Amino acid sequence: MQRNTAKHFLFALFAFLIAFSVHAEKLPNIMILATGGTIAGSGATSTTTVGYTAATVGVQQLINAVPELAKISNVTGEQVFQIASESMTNEHWLTLGKRVNVLLAQPNVDGIVITHGTDTLEETAYFLNLVVKSRKPVVLVGAMRPGTALSADGPINLYNAVLIAGSQEAIGKGVLVALGDQIHGARDVTKTNTSTPDSFKTPELGMLGYVQGPKAFFYHSTTRKHTVDSEFDISNLSALPQVDIVYGYANMNSVALNAFIAAGAKGIIHAGTGDGSVAAKVKPDLAAARKNGTVIVRASRVGNGILARNGEANDDELDFVVADTLSPQKARILLMLGMTKTSNTKELQRMFYTY
Ligand code: DGL
Repeated sequence: MQRNTAKHFLFALFAFLIAFSVHAEKLPNIMILATGGTIAGSGATSTTTVGYTAATVGVQQLINAVPELAKISNVTGEQVFQIASESMTNEHWLTLGKRVNVLLAQPNVDGIVITHGTDTLEETAYFLNLVVKSRKPVVLVGAMRPGTALSADGPINLYNAVLIAGSQEAIGKGVLVALGDQIHGARDVTKTNTSTPDSFKTPELGMLGYVQGPKAFFYHSTTRKHTVDSEFDISNLSALPQVDIVYGYANMNSVALNAFIAAGAKGIIHAGTGDGSVAAKVKPDLAAARKNGTVIVRASRVGNGILARNGEANDDELDFVVADTLSPQKARILLMLGMTKTSNTKELQRMFYTY
């Protein structure tokens, strides 16, 4: 009798292991690369939603907090760095971008989720959108509340991001951003609120879709080039050209502009008022900077709309580039990558109409 029971038990165990491994084989293999931020943050109390400490919880703890991940994917965590994202640097971006490309080249990696602080999440997403050399999904995810808070949004955002990264529908869509059950494209998404969970939006140009239940639903895709169709390659880059942003406002002067140039800026993003307007007392300095070899891109502080060439400034005569619909912070990323290939302003303008 005992021998029979043991035989049945071993048979049942063997059958379970086969079934589990077949099921696991069917699940997508998703790498979770952790960089820090609020999603990895902790606060003193359950009602601390501001004044908490970002970047304190490790990637394995983030994964362990969402056991449901094992039902939709085979996840592996990697702590790439652990920072609050306002401290993100070009060097961090190059490290992260190269690591993403190495991992996506591996046949046993089906997609990547990057946990990230929300302050510069849109910038990292756009940078990766221009340098990732794969059609496999890359999804950036953050949280507006630390994991210690009531109704923390991190765990569900992480679950949704992994679900999207493992979905067929996300393949070839470019780098994505997933918070609040929404799917946004890297180029046009932006953080619109300092603290509320619905902070990430794609104003006017529109988000790409939703996550609902066990599925990702896409309704749009970007018209601009990205990932495998991008001309930018960071594999041999150890640094990016220094590009800084000058903010436009009433009573503006050229002190910041001249300081950036004196510090070695190769390019300047002028985040002007309205349609990228340049104050009368700043325009001569901006024109002089261009004549001395600094690339000038006119962008707008406004947040939406096309930056019209030869509208608020004679760009043809001044040899300025215009940012199209890119925010100043994203125009800076495209100009940095563009200047790894050329300083020709006609070529750079083409890039702003392409990506
Ligand atoms: N320090 C901010 C950051 O790491 C916290 C904001 C957040 O992650 O939501 O971006």
